[in-house]
Order: sequence, then structure tokens, then C-alpha cells
Amino acid sequence: MNRQEIIVKTRGFDYRVLIGDNLLAETGSFLQTLFPPGRTLLVSDENVFSRCGEQVICSLAAEGWQVKTALVKPGERSKTLSGAKRLYNTCFESGLDRSSPVIALGGGVVGDLAGFVAATFMRRVPLVMLPTSLLAQVDSSVGGKVAVNHPLGKNMIGTIYPPRLVLIDPLVLKTLSPRQYRAGTAEVIKYGIIEDEDFFLWLEDNLDLLLALEPGPLADAIAASIRSKARVVEKDEYEQDYRRILNFGHTIGHALEAATAFRYYLHGEAVLIGMHLAVKLAQKLSYLDFASAERINRLLSRIKMKKPPGDLTVDKVIGKLEHDKKRQSDDLIFVLPNRIGSAVMAPVSDKQMIAGLVESYLKGD
Ligand code: GLY
Repeated sequence: MNRQEIIVKTRGFDYRVLIGDNLLAETGSFLQTLFPPGRTLLVSDENVFSRCGEQVICSLAAEGWQVKTALVKPGERSKTLSGAKRLYNTCFESGLDRSSPVIALGGGVVGDLAGFVAATFMRRVPLVMLPTSLLAQVDSSVGGKVAVNHPLGKNMIGTIYPPRLVLIDPLVLKTLSPRQYRAGTAEVIKYGIIEDEDFFLWLEDNLDLLLALEPGPLADAIAASIRSKARVVEKDEYEQDYRRILNFGHTIGHALEAATAFRYYLHGEAVLIGMHLAVKLAQKLSYLDFASAERINRLLSRIKMKKPPGDLTVDKVIGKLEHDKKRQSDDLIFVLPNRIGSAVMAPVSDKQMIAGLVESYLKGD
């Protein structure tokens, strides 16, 4: 059976990321290579659990695990401190101890919330990620960022806590809505632009196969994305500097999401728009040559950009842009590609230029 394995190094330990069809049905045997069977908490959301919960539970039970399942409501609103508190209660009620793993079966919300609970319950218990959305498979399940939201900011309460194992089953993506899947591909393309030129070339040839969920190209794209992410987080696990290139497209993307109360865009849709505008900015500020910008635009344009809602204004978006708190300056920090397969962090002070770019998107230019 065709399986791919990537080892991610962290400060404390190395962990395996495995990619292969039907891996979820083998969760129990993979867990056994790390932990003696005992109690475990499986965190999932109602939608994901109805699609693939049973195969995970069966494979765990077959290896002698006692599984307690905790289901959260799908969506960002579950990712709160009170959501975490409910899970701590379940951990206590089901007799978890410091060696009992928490297993996250779901997309980014479930991974972030369950990861936050694993990082903090009894100071830390092992975390296993079973990501089921494309975004979670290529980004949030790897690299250790875990968090809950605060009313004053998304992901503002959290830490870096790497998983002990990540099992990625591309087959589960076939059950996603086309909209969710397309949004996830934006994060895949991101790696080609900012870090991996060969992958960019591969995407130029194979994006259509990826969008059509062709099994071979899909698994290869997930593996290439994770290798790229692993190279970045291994250089800068705690996001002192270089890891911030992973936020390409996120400065304006996040502002678009915040300006629409996180209800209009899927994260990947907002990031796709943010990447388009960041490429324009890179060109205007002479970070990127015309020919490379054209090639990046051509690739990005193969995924349809979501139109803005009618009541969105430039001021609303600009009002949500975050300043660079680390440098305590008024500059906005953008991740700008400086060639295909490479990006830099760039302080940008020209707000008019940014406003002009946002306006161009709102007008549909
Ligand atoms: N998703 C960005 C990061 O993991 O740093």
C-alpha cells in the first residue's frame, strides 16, 4: 500500500506524520507503537464523527483502548475556554491520567481545541492528530500551534505543543464540500510560492488533478506541503521570525475575515485573496519581478476568488489590519514573495497603497 512518512523534529522529540488511504482504520495499531493501550479521549465534531468516527473507535477498541468520545459543535465558536473546560471535565470524569493520549479527529477547530486541552490538562498529556480537512492536513495538524479564541482575538490563548503522531487519510477529503476543499488548496499553493519552487512547478502542471481529488497527486501535494511546513518549523519552532512566512496572505486575509465577523469567508478563501493582494504589493514595492508575479497570479487565479459581500468597505478592512506588535511600530508587516519559492517579511508603512489594493479587490478589478 502506498504510504508516505515524514519525520518532524522538535525541540523535545521527533514525531511521525503518515499519509495514506484508509489510515484512520489503523489508528489503534499506530497508537500501540507509541503507548500501551489504556484510556483515551477522542475529541471530534458532530459532522466529522458521523463520517469517520466509527472506524477510528473500532480500530482503537480492537487494540484494547477504552475510548471516551467528546463531540463539539462544528465551527469556530466551539474553540473557547469554556469549550476547553467542558473537555477538562470529561477528562476527569473518564479517569484520564498523565499518560492517556487525547486524540483530535477533525479540522482546524477540533485540532486547536483538543491540542490546547492536551497541552494543559495535568500540565500535558500526549496529543495525536487525525486531521480531516485539507487545511488541517497540510497546515494546522503539524507544527504544534494549539489555541482557543478570546472575545478580543482569534487564537490569542495558546501555546506550541507538538503532537506525538499525525495520521492523514486523504480519502476523508472526498466527503468535504467542494467549497471547503477548494479553500484548503489555497494553503497548499502557499508553500509553493513561499518555500518550495519545485512544488510550485509541480502545481503549475498538476493543480487541476489536485482540484479533482486525484488520489496520487493529492497525496503527493499533502506530503510536499507538510515537508515544506516541517522545514520551516524545524528552523523556527517558536515563531521568533522565519516561521512567520507561513502567514503569507494572512495579513489582509485575517482582516477580511475579522471585518466580516468570521462568518462570510472560509479561512482559505480569505487567505487566497490576501495572497493575490500580497503579490501585487510585492510587485509594487519591487520585491518581485513582473514575470514571477505573473506566474504566481496565473496559478492563484485557477482557484476562483470569493466576491466580497456588498456592505464591505475599505475602511472596515483597513481597521482590522494588525500592526506589528513585536516591533511596537505602526508599520504593517507583510509576507512578500521575493522570487518563486521564497518570501521575506516586509514592513509596509504606505497605508494608501494597501487601501488601494483592498479597493481593487472590492471593485472586482
Ligand atoms: N499556520 C501557521 C503556522 O503554523 O505557523
